[in-house]
Amino acid sequence: MVEPIDLSRGESFSQGFPHDYFSHLRANAPAFWHEPTKHSPGGEGFWVVSRYDDIEHVFRNPELFSSEKGPTRPFGGTTLLDDPAAGKMMIQMDNPKHARLRALVTSGFTPATLAKLDEDVRRLTKDILDDVEPGESFDFVEKVARELPLQVICEIVGVPQEDRLQLIEWLDKGIAEPSDGVIAADYYRKVRDYGFKLAQEKRRNPMDDILSIIANARLDDHEQGQLTERELALFFVLLFSAGSETTRSAIGGGMLAFIQNPDQMEKLRADPSLMRWALEEIVRWTSPTVYKRRTAMEDVEIGGQTIRADQKVTIWEMSANRDDRKFDRPFEFDIARKPNRHIGFGAGVHFCLGANLARMEIRCMLEELMRRYSGFELTGEAEWTPSNRLLGIKHLPVRFKAA
Ligand code: HEM
Repeated sequence: MVEPIDLSRGESFSQGFPHDYFSHLRANAPAFWHEPTKHSPGGEGFWVVSRYDDIEHVFRNPELFSSEKGPTRPFGGTTLLDDPAAGKMMIQMDNPKHARLRALVTSGFTPATLAKLDEDVRRLTKDILDDVEPGESFDFVEKVARELPLQVICEIVGVPQEDRLQLIEWLDKGIAEPSDGVIAADYYRKVRDYGFKLAQEKRRNPMDDILSIIANARLDDHEQGQLTERELALFFVLLFSAGSETTRSAIGGGMLAFIQNPDQMEKLRADPSLMRWALEEIVRWTSPTVYKRRTAMEDVEIGGQTIRADQKVTIWEMSANRDDRKFDRPFEFDIARKPNRHIGFGAGVHFCLGANLARMEIRCMLEELMRRYSGFELTGEAEWTPSNRLLGIKHLPVRFKAA
């Protein structure tokens, strides 16, 4: 008998993802009705969908499962409240609105644009690792995993680097970590207001960055021909949080996986052509964004259950990525796994816009780590962020041996 877990509580994730519980759900209750809890305000319960095929189905059928009609939770990482930003932020929109906004930023993430960034990402990686002395015990998340995505997204979006630590602190308190919803909302607002002021500045003095493009874009279907202040601020929050928090978790969780499976690092050193597959395995293994929420648009069958129109449906990427119906030996970290059709970047119209950027950052980091150091070990215990919004390691004490 497996004890039910309250999935709306951040603390249910304080030791990492509750894998045993989800293995049980995949086998016995692939579409499971989660009763309302005090963390799912409004007295509403929600569906928990845990198998790969069902999750992919939800991702790929936005006309049945809306992102706009109450998509994810906003503050504090633990609630399942409808987000007031629904319909105002690209990730929380349905087509055709979604496609129009996505087109505005796609140019910033094409392979050609990213190829030009490769050198910058390499330089930033080197600078960050220059501060890591072999033999020193340090927090890998704070000093390395958090820094690279944060510095890169500052360059892309056009945020002064000196503001980055303040912004990530506000974001963590506002989105990732569980806390009193009111306090979290306050921090979230600080990021939003910062984004809005910066966007105003980009309207006055456009530069060569994504926020300048968005702030000055002409949009025929908008009243003033441009995005409103609120939409601009929310675009900033989306790009900045999606760009910084997720990849931090992939790099931090990837390091822990390599420390626990040293043979996999040796395999990669011996055959660098495996890098492409190693990147996918790291994202499958860490599944940083844990779950997404949609709202059913009509009555629909999933996992032998009828989901009623307007009910909330949560789809758990981490569970899909451990489904043995899809992956052989899903609980083994295997950098040579191919094919590796993980769903860590989502699927369908909202497929992660930054997937190639994230891959580039993880690759640069791994290459530099292998070049500089020959061994990696833990010097304390990994501490997880108690959040169901972002599955990540908050602190990872480590020591590296010089190559
Ligand atoms: C390993 C790192 C990352 C993971 C695991 C990840 C995961 C995801 C997932 C699962 C989605 C789909 C959301 C949905 O269907 O509701 C998504 C969307 C998105 N991601 Fe990422 N992401 C990562 C890195 C990045 C980076 C570096 C950026 C850069 C800005 C980024 C920007 C976005 C944006 C803008 C969307 C919204 C796309 C849309 O609504 O059309 N992500 N991401």
